[in-house]
Amino acid sequence: MSPSAEDAVTDAAEFWETRYLTHRDETGKMWSGRVNATVEREVTGIPPGTALELGSGEGADALWLAAQGWKVTAVDISAAALAVGQAQAEQMRLEDRIDWIRADLATWQPPGVYDLVTSAFFHAPFDFPREAILRRAAAAVAPGGQLLVVGHGPFAPGTVHGHDIDAPPLPTSDEVLAALELPEDWDVETDGFVERVVRRRDGTEVTLTDTVLRVRRGR
Ligand SMILES: C[S@@+](CC[C@H](N)C(=O)[O-])C[C@H]1O[C@@H](n2cnc3c(N)ncnc32)[C@H](O)[C@@H]1O
Repeated sequence: MSPSAEDAVTDAAEFWETRYLTHRDETGKMWSGRVNATVEREVTGIPPGTALELGSGEGADALWLAAQGWKVTAVDISAAALAVGQAQAEQMRLEDRIDWIRADLATWQPPGVYDLVTSAFFHAPFDFPREAILRRAAAAVAPGGQLLVVGHGPFAPGTVHGHDIDAPPLPTSDEVLAALELPEDWDVETDGFVERVVRRRDGTEVTLTDTVLRVRRGR
């Protein structure tokens, strides 16, 4: 018998919660706490409005967006990760600018529309309905608003990214665009690869490639 949808949900929640609780560093975080460079690059210059972040993790992007003036809804399946972001928001006096929602995006329906919907490195080492989630995300973009999907590109031989999730390769931006099946009134703003230099915890630097898709819905 194949596992039920409920089993899959429980597994995903358990996987991510355990991961966040067991991979923290001495500061209590799994990730760096810095905004993703590619998100910063793509969003800078867009007038702030409402933003929805899918798979926000510990909230570095959500906090950065809020500090830029966005009113953010940050959704993640891990309560531990969201608690890190929420505590940071309080410290930064940004708590009124971010709603933290614990939900499984496999089933969660956005309650409204947003000027910006973002997802950065939204992946898992097991099958999950990423394409369906991104299509729902596109449907939650307000007229004139934008959808940003940032993922890992191919890793150069000998490089590893900052964690050890053995995820299947993420789709390229072209593949994401095709999967979204957007109607004709959407424009492509960015579609391709971007390189960024990352400083690891041991001080060494590595150049990584991100895939980036940013599309704008017609008014
Ligand atoms: C690789 S992390 C990226 C976190 C964050 N976007 C960042 O760049 O630091 C992927 C995130 O997606 C979340 N996630 C994975 N599957 C999810 C699901 N089905 N529903 C909600 N969140 C999910 C995980 O909990 C995790 O925080």
